Amino acid sequence: MWNFALKLLFLIFIINTTTTTLVSATDHIVGANKGWNPGINYTIWANNHTFYVGDLISFRYMKNQYNVFEVNQTGYDNCTIEGATGNWSKGKDFILLDKAQRYYFICGTGGCFNGMKVTVLVHPLPSPPSSNNHSSSADQKSAAATYQILSWSSSLMVLVSVVLSIWF
Ligand SMILES: *[C@@H]1O[C@H](CO)[C@@H](O)[C@H](O)[C@H]1NC(C)=O
Ligand SMILES: *[C@@H]1O[C@H](CO)[C@@H](O)[C@H](O)[C@H]1NC(C)=O
Ligand SMILES: *[C@@H]1O[C@H](CO)[C@@H](O)[C@H](O)[C@H]1NC(C)=O
Ligand SMILES: *[C@@H]1O[C@H](CO)[C@@H](O)[C@H](O)[C@H]1NC(C)=O
Ligand SMILES: *[C@@H]1O[C@H](CO)[C@@H](O)[C@H](O)[C@H]1NC(C)=O
Ligand SMILES: *[C@@H]1O[C@H](CO)[C@@H](O)[C@H](O)[C@H]1NC(C)=O
Repeated sequence: MWNFALKLLFLIFIINTTTTTLVSATDHIVGANKGWNPGINYTIWANNHTFYVGDLISFRYMKNQYNVFEVNQTGYDNCTIEGATGNWSKGKDFILLDKAQRYYFICGTGGCFNGMKVTVLVHPLPSPPSSNNHSSSADQKSAAATYQILSWSSSLMVLVSVVLSIWF
């Protein structure tokens, strides 16, 4: 009996985690299919995306030729990496945007002077649907829906756990 209950719980946990991951985090691929390369205006790319806390930004580029540095506004404006707060060089780098703030990323191998710089404003997670009555943009609406699915799925999980613990 215990075995069965544990297995069932584990299964539910896996399903829950998987769906949560699927609906919550968006991976924003810098430059989309053009990737992280010179001669692209990443301001235009960034303007076409909405970033929320917990999203990922990912850079795809030729390893050893380019890289990614997280800098502040001065570093972004002047293409300098002094005082950089992070650096990545795998060629396929996933960076978690875990704070509601503006982020600045540049290429540290000279590509910055050729446009390889991007800045994104990360928004806090939208407030629960009840207090989010007049959202205007489609992005906001879908984010609110995501939030709702998340709260439903965790409530469901709690409910199922309670029922199981009573049954077994
Ligand atoms: C990139 O596009 C933005 C928005 O259209 C524009 O303001 C900016 O000057 C462009 N940057 C470059 C380097 O062309
Ligand atoms: C903006 O993003 C959407 C969806 O990500 C894409 O279909 C569209 O082509 C993009 N537009 C521009 C101008 O990049
Ligand atoms: C950044 O560049 C501007 C002009 O290009 C210069 O005035 C400023 O001092 C530079 N800032 C730093 C921190 O190097
Ligand atoms: C960015 O970092 C550099 C080096 O740490 C520092 O000198 C500069 O004042 C910072 N600029 C901003 C706008 O915080
Ligand atoms: C890159 O990051 C590592 C730690 O993650 C640090 O030790 C190293 O100094 C950084 N490199 C540069 C050039 O800032
Ligand atoms: C919800 O609507 C009320 C009245 O229409 C408004 O005062 C309030 O600011 C709105 N709240 C949000 C989060 O939009």
